[in-house]
Amino acid sequence: MPVTSQCRICDGIVQEFFDFGRQPLSDAFAEPAKAGDNEFFFRLATGICASCSMVQLMEEVPREEMFHEDYPYLSSGSSFMREHFGKLAERFRATELTGPDPFIVELGCNDGIMLKALAEAGIRHLGVEPSGGVADLAAAKGITVRKDFFEEAVASDIRAKQGPADVIYAANTLCHIPYMGSILRGVVNLLAPKGVFVFEDPYFADIVQRTSFDQVYDEHFFFFTAQSVREMARLHGLELVDVERIPVHGGEVRYTLALAGARTPSAAVAELVAAEQEQKLTEFATLEAFGANVRKIRDDLVSLLRELKDKGQRVVGYGATAKSATVLNLCGIGPDLIEFISDTSSTKQGRVTPGSHIPVKPPTEFAARYPDYAVLFAWNHAEEIMAKEQDFRAAGGRWIQYVPNVHVS
Ligand code: SAM
Ligand code: TMP
Ligand code: ZN
Repeated sequence: MPVTSQCRICDGIVQEFFDFGRQPLSDAFAEPAKAGDNEFFFRLATGICASCSMVQLMEEVPREEMFHEDYPYLSSGSSFMREHFGKLAERFRATELTGPDPFIVELGCNDGIMLKALAEAGIRHLGVEPSGGVADLAAAKGITVRKDFFEEAVASDIRAKQGPADVIYAANTLCHIPYMGSILRGVVNLLAPKGVFVFEDPYFADIVQRTSFDQVYDEHFFFFTAQSVREMARLHGLELVDVERIPVHGGEVRYTLALAGARTPSAAVAELVAAEQEQKLTEFATLEAFGANVRKIRDDLVSLLRELKDKGQRVVGYGATAKSATVLNLCGIGPDLIEFISDTSSTKQGRVTPGSHIPVKPPTEFAARYPDYAVLFAWNHAEEIMAKEQDFRAAGGRWIQYVPNVHVS
């Protein structure tokens, strides 16, 4: 019997294509003394809707379990991403925010990485961010933040108090939100007649092409394609008017939506949809092949780590990413195979990884005594990390990567 669920976009039937098993909350880094106490687990599995083609999780984790005062992800930890969002802020200023007293609303502004430049330029803005700790960091940078989950009622309240938005923007946030109907009704209400809703998230075609299966974790509920986003927009009186592939986090697409009929869609939309059809991206055979590739990576990674342990080699992890939770828990890797994981986030250091309970330590511990091997869990920041960790390589250290396959370099 195929396992199914109900589509969170169109109420259609979602058919499961991969089961990642019992998984913890990907960002629940516990204090070592409390590791394993009341730890939250759920079944992580992906499916595709037969009607609207949206790829999504089969089970939903309550939002308050994931996004709260202690949410540890700090967006500004990457210099590459600071530059990425700085450039986008400039682009918004030059294009969409040129009228009198323009207004931009960002969903999931985190520590203010994107809004900082706009706040400094005196542009009217609002960050909507439910995770209190990171919202405080944004506020400390002079950004106006509302500590809330964005949804329909919050959108109408913002509209009533501050008027329509010229830009509504969300990076690595929209794909985190299962209650999409409420979000899109809110967007339609809040958007100015000629305004745009712009969001960027991991691109499902890149996930399949690179077998970057660790993009699947509790927080990533939807995996967008141009086809599924176009349909999702249509169902809510919106229209997909532009798409742009962007080279961040292992491959993303920036989607631009407008109120239906307000703007002419660019040629890029039809081109990307055609490319997805050509790749047979949403066909079940493609998704099953993806699953087979995931199983191979799992088996190869576990064999390699066991072999290195048998040879007495020291192996640590690099980047205690949310993604690493999926890899570690799918593979059953714990502190016996990976000594610790180095991470720059003060919010994760001194804690242990969810489910697998591997200690997280600051990069100074990595540099104090380089290991023989480092598993690059933050592979999406490889360029930035390789550039700053040349001494590790020079000292004879080797990188282990598992996307798109297990390899040592
Ligand atoms: N935009 C930042 C970036 O790209 O680095 C942060 C991305 S972070 C992975 C996702 C953020 O979305 C978290 O800070 C979380 O608190 C926030 N979030 C989750 N649900 C939300 C909602 N309904 N409305 C606004 N923000 C939300
Ligand atoms: P992300 O892949 O979800 O952006 O998470 C990246 C994680 O890796 C985050 O916990 C910060 C950490 N990190 C480092 O430890 N060193 C680095 O140089 C970078 C860019 C990230
Ligand atoms: Zn659907």
